[in-house]
Amino acid sequence: MPVDPEVTMIKRLLLVASTNRRLEKLMSTSPLARGLVSRYVAGDTLQEAIAVTRELRAHGIDVSLDLLGETVDDLAESAIATKAYVEAVRAIAENRLGATVSVKLSQLGIGLDPAVCADHLDELLRAAAEVGVPVEIDMEHSSVGPATLEAFRAAVHDHPGTRIAIQAAMRRTPGDLESFTGVTPRIRLVKGAFLEPIEKSLQERKEITAQYRYLADWALVNLPDPAFGTHDDACIDHVKRSADRLGIARRDFEFQMLHGVRRDVQRALAEEGYRIRVYLPYGMQWYPYLMRRMAERPANLLLFLRSLVSG
Ligand code: FDA
Repeated sequence: MPVDPEVTMIKRLLLVASTNRRLEKLMSTSPLARGLVSRYVAGDTLQEAIAVTRELRAHGIDVSLDLLGETVDDLAESAIATKAYVEAVRAIAENRLGATVSVKLSQLGIGLDPAVCADHLDELLRAAAEVGVPVEIDMEHSSVGPATLEAFRAAVHDHPGTRIAIQAAMRRTPGDLESFTGVTPRIRLVKGAFLEPIEKSLQERKEITAQYRYLADWALVNLPDPAFGTHDDACIDHVKRSADRLGIARRDFEFQMLHGVRRDVQRALAEEGYRIRVYLPYGMQWYPYLMRRMAERPANLLLFLRSLVSG
């Protein structure tokens, strides 16, 4: 399929906008954005996220809870985010939700002080291990990506159940995957959601999909319990076919999708006997998350603009 230059431009604009603090302030206080937010976000509070988790589990869909919030301005904020995550893992265990948590290390302060971030991550991983809740680490923009991978590398020996997101689009990814020694990492393979320069990242959709499929096969063969974070039929069908060919059972890997995206496919996968986990954000700091979701599907921007016009 040829790449539509207008769509590509809107996508880039949305990704640039996702990091604009002034726009964030403007949008975050606009009641008009709420409709779109509620499609992707469970609610403002952990309690609301727990309620949505229960609903999803009734349909055979597991959850990974994500407390919204990314780059923090000071380390006090990162300490607060860490406590909130500890509260979330305890609530998951108390309520027997079978969920994981997904955490962004920029929220734990990796951009300010990697040593303090490592302490926060350790606090969270210990609290999670105490109650038996797995932790997943999101992969962010390349400005913090390598540091995120190093933090994971340092933590994974003590906490081998931890999962790290790996971006198929990034040129360094195959080397990163080959570079683990003494541990075979649990990964969530995603395409990559950030605006990256051509030296660092594949840019063409077709190329990224091909790389995703190649890495998916590699993960199925080489890694324990891989997770495939995608809504793309071309990738989902490829994973299903490869697993069949390799004789890997449907419960020995996992599909992951974002809350609010392709719910019909989520349910169909569960009904077919595949494991499916939904990434479920909650909290107030939804702006950058929402803008990335709109960049993934610029048609969503039209929905949003329509809601602005119609009030
Ligand atoms: P693609 O973008 O081709 O979408 C396939 C189809 O899915 C579209 O045609 C559309 O129908 C539907 N779709 C996709 N996105 C949609 C949206 N936002 N709204 C409505 N429909 C949509 N990235 C990253 O860099 N670091 C990370 O840690 C993570 N973590 C993560 C966890 C999970 C569970 C998922 C599913 C995704 C991520 N991502 C991520 C995001 C990922 O990198 C990627 O940007 C999106 O998944 C979109 O790529 P797809 O593979 O879904 O294909």
